[in-house]
Amino acid sequence: SAIPVLTIDGPSGSGKGTICRHVARRLGWHYLDSGALYRAVGIAASWNDIDLSDASALVRCTFDTTIDFQEGDDEPRVIVNGMDATDELRTETAGAAASAIAAIPEVRAALKDAQRAYRRPPGLVADGRDMGTVIFPDAAHKVFLTASAEERAERRHKQLSEKGVSVTLPGLLREILARDARDANRAVAPLRPADDAVSIDTTGLSIEAVVERVLALMPAR
Ligand code: C5P
Repeated sequence: SAIPVLTIDGPSGSGKGTICRHVARRLGWHYLDSGALYRAVGIAASWNDIDLSDASALVRCTFDTTIDFQEGDDEPRVIVNGMDATDELRTETAGAAASAIAAIPEVRAALKDAQRAYRRPPGLVADGRDMGTVIFPDAAHKVFLTASAEERAERRHKQLSEKGVSVTLPGLLREILARDARDANRAVAPLRPADDAVSIDTTGLSIEAVVERVLALMPAR
């Protein structure tokens, strides 16, 4: 495809979401938050009382779930099966459910075409774990963002505190390490940089600084 894609992969808490939104805005490109798709399926499953160990029901649920992003000035609203699930989507419960569901190969396969459909002119910034390795292997620009687990836990803690959610830092760190291990060790689409990705360690860097580094990798526009 001639439509350019910039993939930005990395673990949770690497600041990906915010960075990708800024980069997409600066480029004037579309933005795919692939984690939100997995989270949305997790939420739809919980609404339908589907057990996270019931793989075949989860695969059916993936096909039955509709997900819409409503762009606004702020964070986009995410509408799941016609209901605004934006706040529920960001919870640790939804993240954990997403991570469990994301280990099911048929669920990943079911979401593949849906993700590729976001590739529209003038370009796409794709945010996730396997954007550069599996979904858009032909992307012209690939970035892998990292940050120390401690820093990611702190960022997440700050984010949640601002939203009035009370969680402990050690608890968050444990969850982040557990999720990292699950995402990196699963058999299908494990979290790893594409061979042709540029890694950026964001520990100690501001959002703006990372955005500038990512944009500096793009050819002059
Ligand atoms: O990025 P986010 O934290 O929203 O993703 C939630 C979970 O969904 C991740 O922990 C990961 O297990 C899964 N995921 C994935 N592949 C993607 C995006 C997210 O497996 N492309």
